[in-house]
Amino acid sequence: MDKILILDFGGQYSQLIARRVRAQHVYAEIKPYSCITVDEIKKKGYKGIIFTGGPNSVYDAASPHYDREVLALGIPVLGICYGVQLMAWMEGGKITSAENSSEYGKTVVQTDENLLFGNMPQKSICWMSHTDYIKTVPEGFQIIAYTEKCPCAAMCDEKRKLYGVQFHPEVTHSEYGKQILHNFLFSICECAGDWKMENFIETSIARYRRELTGKKVLLALSGGVDSSVAAVLLHKAVGSNLTCVFVDHGLLRKEEGDFVEATFGKQFGIRLIRVNAEERFLKKLAGVTEPEQKRKIIGEEFIRVFEEEAGKLGKMDVLAQGTIYPDVIESGKGDSAVIKSHHNVGGLPDVIAFDELAEPLRDLFKDEVRETGTQLGIPHELVWRQPFPGPGLAVRVIGEIAKEKLELLREADAIFREEVERAGAECCTSQYFAVLTDTRSVGVMGDARTYGYTIALRAVTTDDFMTAEWTRLPYEVLERASSRITNEVKGISRVVYDITSKPPATVEWE
Ligand code: XMP
Repeated sequence: MDKILILDFGGQYSQLIARRVRAQHVYAEIKPYSCITVDEIKKKGYKGIIFTGGPNSVYDAASPHYDREVLALGIPVLGICYGVQLMAWMEGGKITSAENSSEYGKTVVQTDENLLFGNMPQKSICWMSHTDYIKTVPEGFQIIAYTEKCPCAAMCDEKRKLYGVQFHPEVTHSEYGKQILHNFLFSICECAGDWKMENFIETSIARYRRELTGKKVLLALSGGVDSSVAAVLLHKAVGSNLTCVFVDHGLLRKEEGDFVEATFGKQFGIRLIRVNAEERFLKKLAGVTEPEQKRKIIGEEFIRVFEEEAGKLGKMDVLAQGTIYPDVIESGKGDSAVIKSHHNVGGLPDVIAFDELAEPLRDLFKDEVRETGTQLGIPHELVWRQPFPGPGLAVRVIGEIAKEKLELLREADAIFREEVERAGAECCTSQYFAVLTDTRSVGVMGDARTYGYTIALRAVTTDDFMTAEWTRLPYEVLERASSRITNEVKGISRVVYDITSKPPATVEWE
């Protein structure tokens, strides 16, 4: 299988580049520039290398630089944005700052005839985002594209198969970006394009069948997409040697626990242990109002329950986890400020001894995990399930948690989701849910005064959940949800809609 290396210099689109490459059936992996040496690159047999963008100017001492030898390996390289400037700088070209004439956004680019620009018109729209540009190309290189403001929008040394573009072919605003990447992968790197999800499934099953023969595998199943796909994939490889522990902490949405049990236990015939631990979690959470404390308690208790169940099973050899590629990359990136301590059943436990770790999805992006899930026959509603936080409804009941409050929230949330889905509005929002606030307000029903809780409805639209817009749901959907919630859920007297984006708010309220 051909592999492309995305050498990451801190660009914001590195993951997007990898996804675009994989979308053309070529396997791509991202490595931070500081985590791989030229020798390692040589050994890994990459068919091509892409230098990503980055935030700096190549002349800053603190800027990411790389061993010049990488350009002499005979492996084709494509530099993007900072990546092309770095390539030029490494080879002795000159970079300058455009200062007042930096280009940002859609820009008309004129391209010359070249392998990189095959099958596209000479004039097209590309996405630019730069202040510095290449003033003098290095020896052996030629300029192959320019814009009104940028004399070198692309350069190449055809003989050495070194290419670079100042714009971003990976973003959809670049009209022929896909074609440019295609040209690099197939005309220049000569990739075969044989990376397919079916191959991935077959190879993984064969691999785990071989590596895990006779071993006992334990997996913490949350019912989320990642752990579900990992479970079904591993079950195909090791059958009854896989045991899934599903900790129902009593903080799940309406009927969710039963659905998980029915799907995995009955439909797939996976050995599933459901632990009903609601009482235990609620006891620990009694009187706790501080969000971080709630998260910590749930995270810790989760591990305790999991350990106890694992202990009852006797010696297990392998811990399986639904880690996916963005988790792997994220954890390789230094410290960023902790906004919330996300708890994931993926992050289990240091305390139990396992001989091995199996992470069948660690090379896949979320959309690839979903495709794998679909091909494995996992129900659509599970594969396309919206994200749900590990601490569950505990972070959607504001303030102190109580069983009755959870019940109110479950009902209101189910109605809201039903109304969004009935209107077909789920396709224009990324996550939609209800929150039970700790505010009570006066209402009137019939002739009587009511004094019930306020439910907040939240729907956000986002690509990556790092930033999010509040979704402009149709008024009719909000109206129906509000009316049904106040009529059908006794104890709720008011419904509000959250119109805050992230930042400054977060998606979840706690
Ligand atoms: P925030 O609230 O941080 O949420 O803007 C961003 C996305 O992450 C989900 N989320 C979590 N997911 N464990 C998870 O697995 C958690 O503890 C957690 N907290 C928030 C949230 O639902 C949204 O999709």
